[in-house]
Amino acid sequence: MINILVLLLQMLLGFFVLSVPTLAVFLNIDCGSLGSFTDANNITWVGDEPYIKSGKSETVPSAGNSPVAIQYTTRRVFPTRNKNCYSIDVGKGERVLLRAYFYYGNCNNSETSSTPTFDLHFDGNRWGKVDSCRTDPFYYEVIYLTKFDAISVCVARTSPDHQPFISAIQVISLDLGMYGGADPNYPLFFKRRINYGGDKTVRFPIDKYDRIWYDHPTAEGFVTAKSDTRIVATDLPDKPPEFVLQTALYNQNLSGSFSLTFSNLTATKMYTIFYFSELLNLNFSDKRSFSIYINGENISHPIIPPYKSALELNFTSNTSAYEGGYNATYYFYRTSDSTLPPILNALELFQVGTPLTDGTDNRHVRVLSMLQQTFVQLQNWSGDPCLPNGFPWDWVLCSINTETPQITALNLSNYGLQGSLPDFSALDTLQLIDLSNNSLSGEIPSFLGNLPSLNMLNLANNSFSGLIPSSLTNNNNLTLVYSGNVDLCAPNQSSCDKSVNGTSNLPHPTNSQSSISKNLPITIGIVISVLVLVSY
Ligand SMILES: *[C@@H]1O[C@H](CO)[C@@H](O)[C@H](O)[C@H]1NC(C)=O
Ligand SMILES: *[C@@H]1O[C@H](CO)[C@@H](O)[C@H](O)[C@H]1NC(C)=O
Ligand SMILES: *[C@@H]1O[C@H](CO)[C@@H](O)[C@H](O)[C@H]1NC(C)=O
Ligand SMILES: *[C@@H]1O[C@H](CO)[C@@H](O)[C@H](O)[C@H]1NC(C)=O
Ligand SMILES: *[C@@H]1O[C@H](CO)[C@@H](O)[C@H](O)[C@H]1NC(C)=O
Ligand SMILES: *[C@@H]1O[C@H](CO)[C@@H](O)[C@H](O)[C@H]1NC(C)=O
Ligand SMILES: *[C@@H]1O[C@H](CO)[C@@H](O)[C@H](O)[C@H]1NC(C)=O
Ligand SMILES: *[C@@H]1O[C@H](CO)[C@@H](O)[C@H](O)[C@H]1NC(C)=O
Ligand SMILES: *[C@@H]1O[C@H](CO)[C@@H](O)[C@H](O)[C@H]1NC(C)=O
Ligand SMILES: *[C@@H]1O[C@H](CO)[C@@H](O)[C@H](O)[C@H]1NC(C)=O
Ligand SMILES: *[C@@H]1O[C@H](CO)[C@@H](O)[C@H](O)[C@H]1NC(C)=O
Ligand SMILES: *[C@@H]1O[C@H](CO)[C@@H](O)[C@H](O)[C@H]1NC(C)=O
Repeated sequence: MINILVLLLQMLLGFFVLSVPTLAVFLNIDCGSLGSFTDANNITWVGDEPYIKSGKSETVPSAGNSPVAIQYTTRRVFPTRNKNCYSIDVGKGERVLLRAYFYYGNCNNSETSSTPTFDLHFDGNRWGKVDSCRTDPFYYEVIYLTKFDAISVCVARTSPDHQPFISAIQVISLDLGMYGGADPNYPLFFKRRINYGGDKTVRFPIDKYDRIWYDHPTAEGFVTAKSDTRIVATDLPDKPPEFVLQTALYNQNLSGSFSLTFSNLTATKMYTIFYFSELLNLNFSDKRSFSIYINGENISHPIIPPYKSALELNFTSNTSAYEGGYNATYYFYRTSDSTLPPILNALELFQVGTPLTDGTDNRHVRVLSMLQQTFVQLQNWSGDPCLPNGFPWDWVLCSINTETPQITALNLSNYGLQGSLPDFSALDTLQLIDLSNNSLSGEIPSFLGNLPSLNMLNLANNSFSGLIPSSLTNNNNLTLVYSGNVDLCAPNQSSCDKSVNGTSNLPHPTNSQSSISKNLPITIGIVISVLVLVSY
């Protein structure tokens, strides 16, 4: 009997071991939907409710012509709040590929006055400005090393009458060695991933990391060809699928040199990976050898693509500015001893972003999290409370001049808060606390009077009781408002007779700390950059 159980257990375990995906995280979220389904690529999409507690789901109106994939037929829309965030547990120090998809449907419909334009953030970093009037679904992709236990993907309002939305999110963990040639402190914003000579776009399951490789038809004067053998390239750090190594592009002329130009880029720094594999079993008299030039400089030892296997090269390089954007240009020159033209099998191109943020002061984040545990009304706020600059949670203000933002105000008027105030004295940079018009009870905690920068404390219209602590009454720097707390004893009153009310010398709450970003928005999207092939 026990043997049979053990056998069953082993079978079950075996089954699970076989069916569990080999990647730590392979999560595909269909925003605004409840169910789960598997698409034509065998990618399983799940509903988004476990990952967000705000917004509402919406069915996307048809855009007319061709039907879109199911994950675009619903979306989550955010009529309230400045910023709304998904939170996805992944773990610190993981290299991930993150995608956010958008599809608005028929944006030329006269009923919808304007197609929403809004901001996209991840982990407190700016990701892009989403302008959603596009005929087809589109996405933003970033590859980076996580700095927090959970990934946040936020959409944020930039115009009062535009409601942000999102259609789908993908989080895929990569092997740590992948994209390890890039500086780990910077995000890599996807620009291009090209399978030269390929005849179709491929993604999962051909690429187990679901990288989307676009096919590239040949160009005038160029030839594409397919390898005559299998290619084993499992040792390459970036794990390209064999499929994209199988084909390549080259100049039909024997001189063979060529260049690639990517224009309309928005960043000054690029991270590029080239993949090479010899297509033919060359005889002893033939040699294929070439070098890559970036910005006029020979930056590679002669490249000799191996047969039956592959090699890859990564480069971080500067773009060149021109009126309207930046270009990245790569030249492939045959070396003098080469009898065959340079070839290129595949390429990945990323814009290097600004350094990844370490987030708001961690001590303050922990206190806010404690406040969220204490007051249920605050629970469905996630993402970084202050970052990016200019996009704090609705109920906080933050310092913006420091590298690590800190909380300078709690604006919790009319939040329906109940119960007694917990100790949040660790928010030691608070200048303003507005807790008016709630149902807070118990004694006023004395730490409030010791907050070194506090100059405005509004406790009006709650149910506080007992004596006002001397730390508050003795603090000359503080404007204290405590009217409308019937059980509160006035300062210097010997006995509490419930008949007093607070003196109110309430100036208008200041918004001077309101964080208005002075940073220029970094617009990094899939702006289709035109690829120019030039042969020599
Ligand atoms: C999807 O998975 C099923 C079963 O595992 C398999 O039969 C099918 O070929 C797969 N489809 C694709 C497009 O890979
Ligand atoms: C936030 O959570 C509270 C309590 O869970 C809920 O009542 C409220 O509707 C939520 N707010 C939003 C905007 O989803
Ligand atoms: C909106 O209309 C313009 C002009 O008629 C057209 O070019 C564009 O493709 C349309 N966009 C969508 C998303 O339908
Ligand atoms: C990237 O290039 C550098 C310098 O050529 C090399 O040392 C490194 O191994 C490469 N890394 C990857 C992941 O390809
Ligand atoms: C190939 O070489 C021929 C002769 O030199 C030249 O006329 C032609 O323009 C070249 N083709 C390309 C694409 O450079
Ligand atoms: C950049 O690309 C654009 C568009 O292809 C082109 O007009 C321009 O001359 C290029 N500038 C430089 C400096 O390469
Ligand atoms: C570059 O972008 C501008 C505006 O964004 C557009 O008008 C132009 O056609 C684009 N050029 C190329 C070569 O894609
Ligand atoms: C080597 O291969 C090339 C074409 O692949 C052919 O033209 C040439 O004659 C071959 N040379 C010898 C010595 O086999
Ligand atoms: C790129 O530009 C920066 C600053 O302009 C410079 O310090 C760096 O050396 C350049 N890198 C390359 C590879 O040219
Ligand atoms: C580029 O430089 C390498 C040495 O770093 C040299 O071996 C190679 O021949 C050069 N390439 C060309 C096309 O001159
Ligand atoms: C009031 O502010 C001044 C200057 O900002 C400071 O020196 C003093 O300690 C503050 N007093 C209290 C009671 O916090
Ligand atoms: C204080 O209470 C008295 C009556 O109890 C009322 O007339 C007065 O307006 C109150 N003052 C304030 C500031 O609430």
